Amino acid sequence: MRICVIGSGYVGLVAATCLAEIGHEVVCVDSDLEKIARLNEGQPLIHEEFLQELLSRHHKGRLAFSPAVEASIRDAHTIFIAVGTPCTPSGEADLSYVESVARTIAQLSEGYKLIIEKSTVPVYTNDWIERAMVMNGRDHNGFDVVSNPEFLREGSAVTDFLYPDRIVVGSRNERAARSMREIYKPIIDGTYELQASAVPRPEGSRQKPFYIETTPQSAELIKHASNSFLALKISFINAVANICEAVGADVEHVREGLGTDRRIGPDFLRAGIGYGGSCFPKDIAAFRAAAHACGYELCLLDQARKINEDQRFRFVKKIRKALWTLKDKNLAVLGLAFKGGTDDIRQSPAIEIIQSLIAEGCKIIAYDPAAMQRTRAVLGSAIRYATDSYDAMNGADALLILTDWKEFGMLDLQKVKACLRYPIVLDGRNVYKPSEMQKAGLNYYSVGRLPLEISHSSAKRASALTQS
Ligand code: UGA
Repeated sequence: MRICVIGSGYVGLVAATCLAEIGHEVVCVDSDLEKIARLNEGQPLIHEEFLQELLSRHHKGRLAFSPAVEASIRDAHTIFIAVGTPCTPSGEADLSYVESVARTIAQLSEGYKLIIEKSTVPVYTNDWIERAMVMNGRDHNGFDVVSNPEFLREGSAVTDFLYPDRIVVGSRNERAARSMREIYKPIIDGTYELQASAVPRPEGSRQKPFYIETTPQSAELIKHASNSFLALKISFINAVANICEAVGADVEHVREGLGTDRRIGPDFLRAGIGYGGSCFPKDIAAFRAAAHACGYELCLLDQARKINEDQRFRFVKKIRKALWTLKDKNLAVLGLAFKGGTDDIRQSPAIEIIQSLIAEGCKIIAYDPAAMQRTRAVLGSAIRYATDSYDAMNGADALLILTDWKEFGMLDLQKVKACLRYPIVLDGRNVYKPSEMQKAGLNYYSVGRLPLEISHSSAKRASALTQS
């Protein structure tokens, strides 16, 4: 099929590349000329496993990037809308980009167009696109609008697209539904995986996805409800973690006990400094606003947001408690991205915590395997940047772990102790077991577990032992 994807952001770029990978002729359009030029040279622009490989495979063949929005729309039979839907100050999704694309499609269309809404949008956006088409002179028979939300995560975006749990398609008629089945056929029937050059299916993923055909309104709600539910799970475990701290329980044990109930499941129950990124905070606000607009107050989401924000303040308080005072303290920070596996720092809890610490007079030296460049653009010289984890902690008063990169969970703890000025580790993502820290003679503060404080006398004993 000849497909046009409008927008080369995270979802647009990954969708366009993966649609080419499953056999379609794809043009991905964006008005950002510099971005388009770099993509046409095969530079992926984002840190995402397999993306470079697939771009190299297709960018001179089935996949093109173009700034010519109008010509690309005119030539395509199938158009994916993957433009941004940022948050307005009142929390609603700003749909002006979606509307402008819909208007352009209406004005340029000659033959039939299948319009697929991929951006995360509130319920009834599909109706509004349809209305914009009609208001701009298109006949109902000359187009279909389908809602096809995307569930890919940053860090595993390519495999999430190619091996999804489910594909959700909200359409109004069989003509559109049939085309959608055709687009996703190699993924739905599992034939993609059989190709010699296929990206390998991740362990634990479904062999074939659920294919859910429904109405546009239901499809739109599925997306907002999914992200909101995942955020609720995280805030729930964080609230439980705070109770664990108060009563001396261990949230990791509580998580195991909860997550082994098949009705609850183990995922998205990791306690820490809260969720961030470009999706959950925005989508929770948008779902809350959409519910309000249709007369229902989804206050549950306000609480989830509040717990999430409080998690960062609680962690800063924990740092203060561990260090007595904060002014002029030198702190090593591992992790800047909003989660491991990505270079994205949008709404990153790590960045917010660093900003609070700077405001309290701390001096920060930070390291992240992928997000240093993006952080430099935001924090500039307000912090120093280390060349690796141990370089960051050299002579620091304490170590803070703020992102769950795998490599941060595999540090040589004896070396950590030797690098730090004081043996203090504050782990905002619970990447270590307290017993490992105890063995290494480190004071350890995490989330939802009691602090591990090596007493002064036993620290002296440990240091005497090391010297002997
Ligand atoms: C999220 C959803 O997981 C995707 O399904 C969805 O497609 C995407 O939003 C979107 O709407 O585009 P993403 O934002 O990439 O994906 O990241 P997640 O893996 O969901 O993590 C979000 C945040 O929650 C991160 O800050 C992460 O550290 C935090 N988190 C996650 C926890 O604090 N605890 C957990 O147990 C899991």
